[in-house]
Amino acid sequence: MISPEHFRFFSELVRSSSGISLQKGKEYLLESRLNELSRVLGMRGIDELYRKAKFNSSPRLKDQIVEAMTTNETYFFRDQHPFQALKDHIIPELLDKKKDTRSMSFWSAACSTGQEPYSIAMTITEHFPELLNWRVDIHATDISQAAVNKGKEGRFTQVEVNRGLPVTMLVKYFKQQGAFWMIDEKLKRMIRFRKMNLLTPFIGINRIDVVFCRYVLIYFDQPTKKAILEKIAKVMNPGGYLFLGATESPAGLPPWMKRVNFGRAVCWKKEQD
Ligand SMILES: C[S@@+](CC[C@H](N)C(=O)[O-])C[C@H]1O[C@@H](n2cnc3c(N)ncnc32)[C@H](O)[C@@H]1O
Repeated sequence: MISPEHFRFFSELVRSSSGISLQKGKEYLLESRLNELSRVLGMRGIDELYRKAKFNSSPRLKDQIVEAMTTNETYFFRDQHPFQALKDHIIPELLDKKKDTRSMSFWSAACSTGQEPYSIAMTITEHFPELLNWRVDIHATDISQAAVNKGKEGRFTQVEVNRGLPVTMLVKYFKQQGAFWMIDEKLKRMIRFRKMNLLTPFIGINRIDVVFCRYVLIYFDQPTKKAILEKIAKVMNPGGYLFLGATESPAGLPPWMKRVNFGRAVCWKKEQD
């Protein structure tokens, strides 16, 4: 079992760098993930990782420790209803509202390995061909460089494409390459993947029409969650929509973000200025 001193040190390092809060009871998770990391780095175990991180740390090692503690669980069209709401209500509304500027922007704010932004890109391509002549930005950011790299590559395993992706979409938007499925180049070009920590300033992210910030705030404590929700609301266009995970509470959202239901989807609309 990891020692209390090691648990305190690593959980504080992870919390201060990423916001991920590892409460008591998460000792086993921390220990197993960091044991694996120390093995990959050729170290003898958590003791050595602790000494290196504490007395001889590089930013790279810190990033690797944080990355080891992220949970990258995701799948295509996760929860379905948000994508149905995009198709039936939100994009049609934005098409009308933004017909003068002919631009629309989306942000997957903790995109993991890309299934979420690719689901947005497929929804657009499949149902709104007219948007292909608009300026459409899909930003996809995550703290994990490895996850972002995988998203950028657009290469998925059979297990990954079996999760959430309708077979018609698989056939239409993916090409089989050996044991993997490569996503269509046109979809890839619609998305700008990059590493970004939600605790840091949102550089290059502004005037967003639709934000997906799902299943990431659950890892943060309430003050951190509130601060991030306020920052997100600031970079949204008036009239824009925010999706949280289906089971996530909106506590901390500014009062001018109003709850809206579209069928079984729940989202938060930024009131007009
Ligand atoms: C469970 S996944 C959710 C992925 C996707 N949004 C979905 O709903 O399927 C959570 C993601 O949040 C990322 N994450 C954790 N802390 C973060 C932070 N401070 N800034 C940006 N991303 C973070 C993790 O790397 C992980 O990929």
